[in-house]
Amino acid sequence: MSPMEPSHQPTHRLVLQQLKDARGSYCSGTALAAQLGLTRTGIWKHIQSLRTLGYDIESHPKEGYRLLSVPDLLVPEEVEPHLTTRWMGRSYHYFPQIASTNDEALRLAARGAPHGTVVVAEEQTRGRGRLQRPWLSPSRCGIYASLLLRTALPVREAALANLVAALAYVKILRRLYALPAGIKWPNDILIRGKKAAGILTEMQSDQDFTRFLVVGIGMNVNHDATHMDASFRYPGTSVALELGHPVPRQEILMAFLEEFEAQYDLFLENGFESLMAVMEEYSIILGKMVRVQTTDGELAGKVTGFNPQGALKLRLEDGREETVWVGDVTHVRGDFT
Ligand code: BTN
Repeated sequence: MSPMEPSHQPTHRLVLQQLKDARGSYCSGTALAAQLGLTRTGIWKHIQSLRTLGYDIESHPKEGYRLLSVPDLLVPEEVEPHLTTRWMGRSYHYFPQIASTNDEALRLAARGAPHGTVVVAEEQTRGRGRLQRPWLSPSRCGIYASLLLRTALPVREAALANLVAALAYVKILRRLYALPAGIKWPNDILIRGKKAAGILTEMQSDQDFTRFLVVGIGMNVNHDATHMDASFRYPGTSVALELGHPVPRQEILMAFLEEFEAQYDLFLENGFESLMAVMEEYSIILGKMVRVQTTDGELAGKVTGFNPQGALKLRLEDGREETVWVGDVTHVRGDFT
């Protein structure tokens, strides 16, 4: 039986469900106690734990309890019951604060956590970006999530999970908020030339084959200008800054997990080739002059496309064609808009 089926739910979730079903009306403590087979003191304790999680619950000596508002937190109480995925997020680990969700996901993976395990935090104290950069993760404004994927794909192909995540996030930013989001290969999501999210994929492999992957994504959602990391190579932005108002993070997280699952399944079934058209549509560097920092030095040229394995195709200034598997696009003539 899945841990999300009602009979396995912790009691405070059943209390919460009763309050939600009452749609803003009072639920008497006596009725709740009778329905759930608890004492009134037992109900009160569960109400207190819901309040600690951030639920605003009014109590009235005669009428009972009334749910006034639900917090915009990524608590399992608000995510698990609404997720429509088959495998993504079915094992959901939530932390109000953690050093790094990637570190935790790597730890869980080593202990045998299942494919699709998700680690989410409201705040990271040692969030990590690519190339040893820190990833600023202020409390309750972003989404800091790591997805564990168990796969035996060759290492080069498995690394494409990075692009699958970028594609899924861009897709939902366009669908939910009509934002002109795009991908700066291989792992940045930009909106109007400013960085709105980054992805750090880490893996464990045996020789050439992957054992598991952890795809970590940091989304700037309700950050305001004071939260922007001055160490970004590009100016940063957030969904709220672009729209001019905050948005529900729960909605974004759930839509992302669902979209990622759909895209990743497509990728496994039909290969990266099946995602190439969308990848090219979303790319903000296609046709642009760029500089790419690779392990063998810097290349400069025009991006002509992506190969079916997700690598960047570059026409160098001397006319030669080059395929770049791993690199950091450090400079674009003009801008990324
Ligand atoms: C980058 O653009 O450099 C990648 C940033 C990745 C940040 C995310 S936040 C969730 C996960 N946990 C981490 O420590 N890093 C990734």
